[in-house]
Amino acid sequence: MKSRKRIWIATSALAVAGCVSATRIAPPVSELQSGAAFPQQLERGRRLYLGACGSCHAPYAIDEYSLAQWDRILPEMVRKTKLDASDTDALRTYIVASHEYLAQTAP
Ligand code: HEC
Repeated sequence: MKSRKRIWIATSALAVAGCVSATRIAPPVSELQSGAAFPQQLERGRRLYLGACGSCHAPYAIDEYSLAQWDRILPEMVRKTKLDASDTDALRTYIVASHEYLAQTAP
């Protein structure tokens, strides 16, 4: 009984820590003010960001770079990843929406 309780506390601490850092790196679509973007497009962008974009290096926290820096970085990375135009659109939409969200919620 006692040890089970300890395990539960350890697990929930991990879950909270995991959630905070994942949100900073790539916020879940449910958190984003999508504006004109469809949630499916944001989901697609997030999957690309964590999947294809994370195949050479761990995904960077989106707010580690300004949008102007992203404008310089993205074309090169999109080329490395060999994304087509519609994937690039989805990814860019997700990055911009996440950037806005993180700027509003930053500590
Ligand atoms: C084929 C491997 C590869 C893929 C795929 C890739 N990257 Fe990179 N990425 C790199 C390398 C190598 C660097 C470091 C040097 C450089 O800028 O080329 C880098 C650097 C970066 C940086 C830091 C740039 C800086 O100036 O500090 C960011 C941000 C980044 N990548 C984002 C992405 C995103 C977003 C994607 C998906 C579109 C992506 N990467 C896909 C290899 C890759």
